[in-house]
Amino acid sequence: MTAFKVALLHQLKPRQGRVVWAGTTKIALFLIDNQVYAIKNFCPHAGGSLGTGPVRGLVVSCPRHAWGFNVQTGACLHNPAFAVQTYPVEVRGQEVWVEAPAEGLA
Ligand code: FES
Repeated sequence: MTAFKVALLHQLKPRQGRVVWAGTTKIALFLIDNQVYAIKNFCPHAGGSLGTGPVRGLVVSCPRHAWGFNVQTGACLHNPAFAVQTYPVEVRGQEVWVEAPAEGLA
């Protein structure tokens, strides 16, 4: 895993996803109650862009078929077999850093 600077804190809107790249991994970032969460921007059901789905509490709903995913744990509310990958986040001042696979290993 490698740490990538993926955004500045002011670019994140509360309870609204933002899609970014961490190396070669597409990540969905969420700012919820002053905490930043990162999950893979790829719904394990059929590839929906989770970073563009509506957020309620800690749950984002996939924009394609509305399956819910907990952005903190990656758990799928519809089927435990379909959890989404989560990534460690560190906020350094105004910078948001995400640990993701090194280039070429996503
Ligand atoms: S692609 Fe996400 S719920 Fe179907």
